[in-house]
Amino acid sequence: MSMKFSKRSDHVKASDVRELLKVTQNPEIISFAGGFPAPELFPIEEMKIVCNTVLEEQGDKALQYSSTEGFLALRKTISSIMNNLGVSAFSEDIVITSGSQQCLDLTGKIFLDEGDIVICESPTYLAAISAFQCYLPRFVEVEMDDQGMKMDKLEAALKENSQAKFIYTIPDFQNPTGRTLSLERRKRIVELANEYDMFIIEDNPYGAIRFEGNNLPPIKHFDTEGRVIYVSTFSKTLTPGLRLGWVCANPEVLRKLVIFKQGADLNTNSFAQLKAVKYMELFDLEGHVSKIKEVYRKRKYAMLEAMDKHMPEYAKYTNPEGGLFIWVELPDYINAREVLAKSIENKVAFVPGGSFYPNGGHENTMRLNFSNMPEERIEEGIKRLAEVLKVLGRD
Ligand SMILES: Cc1ncc(COP(=O)(O)O)c(C=O)c1O
Repeated sequence: MSMKFSKRSDHVKASDVRELLKVTQNPEIISFAGGFPAPELFPIEEMKIVCNTVLEEQGDKALQYSSTEGFLALRKTISSIMNNLGVSAFSEDIVITSGSQQCLDLTGKIFLDEGDIVICESPTYLAAISAFQCYLPRFVEVEMDDQGMKMDKLEAALKENSQAKFIYTIPDFQNPTGRTLSLERRKRIVELANEYDMFIIEDNPYGAIRFEGNNLPPIKHFDTEGRVIYVSTFSKTLTPGLRLGWVCANPEVLRKLVIFKQGADLNTNSFAQLKAVKYMELFDLEGHVSKIKEVYRKRKYAMLEAMDKHMPEYAKYTNPEGGLFIWVELPDYINAREVLAKSIENKVAFVPGGSFYPNGGHENTMRLNFSNMPEERIEEGIKRLAEVLKVLGRD
């Protein structure tokens, strides 16, 4: 039988890392791999009340199809979240998506033809690479430092690729590096987008999870021409299982996005949307997020302290002020995929950093997640990982 798959399906490959990481299901494994929130913090009791209340009060709506744009009540609540962030937005500027991941797919669909250029951070979010890759673009990576994407490098990339479709960036506690784009660079990236007639996709799932330092306004705060497509989610603040994200963008972009969303899933889960609204009506989401931040802050320090104590001198790592990840750079001669294979024997998992570079390379890097394991397991896991590194390293 000939399979008659599309050209794009030839380009999508199952990653070898995914195969290795299947073992993280085993509870004996100390996993620093997934970007998972801490499940013990999920508001399960509150959600039971929320589910019942929604079914009692609005069961007919919760179990019915709904508009592609999303329930007005949720879009209104999100517009006030956006206003509090310094982005002036009305409910009609918001569309609810099935996780922010769907928005990445839809933006790929509305902007990208084969061979088009996507400018992104180097490294960048793995599942954004997968989402965009379906549309067969070329990725131009822009080097980062501790302040995020380097603006001189971005400008050079824009000069060389003025026909690029958009800049994709994760400004706060970036996945995978944990780095945050500085205030000056937030202003500059908008200036550059204006100058080079470029859209910016600002993917911001982690901004609300700042546990240290001062809040920074989103890039969209500086957007004067409607070029910034702001994408966020309830996954890291409430629960990822609800699969609720949103996009705040200019009307033309939203119109296209809604047409493609109809083709993808007609509407975002009605019940989940009403649950989010009811949760925020009955309970204190901000208070809940404060608890999450306190736990993650402690876990980050547990990880950093264990790394300072056990890791070989040559390992360099970031110290994020929020989010879920620490990024590790090893000497060039160490391949993190080999480290993973060996550390899985020691029952520790992480994601090799090479996966986050759309054009490959950088196999000497690792992403460590600190949100999903209790402090004592973090210390033990880092100790075991450091043992593997000491065997593979030259000091
Ligand atoms: C940078 C980034 N964008 C988007 C997502 C997708 O989030 P969700 O689809 O759960 O909203 C994630 C998830 O980890 C992420 O790290």
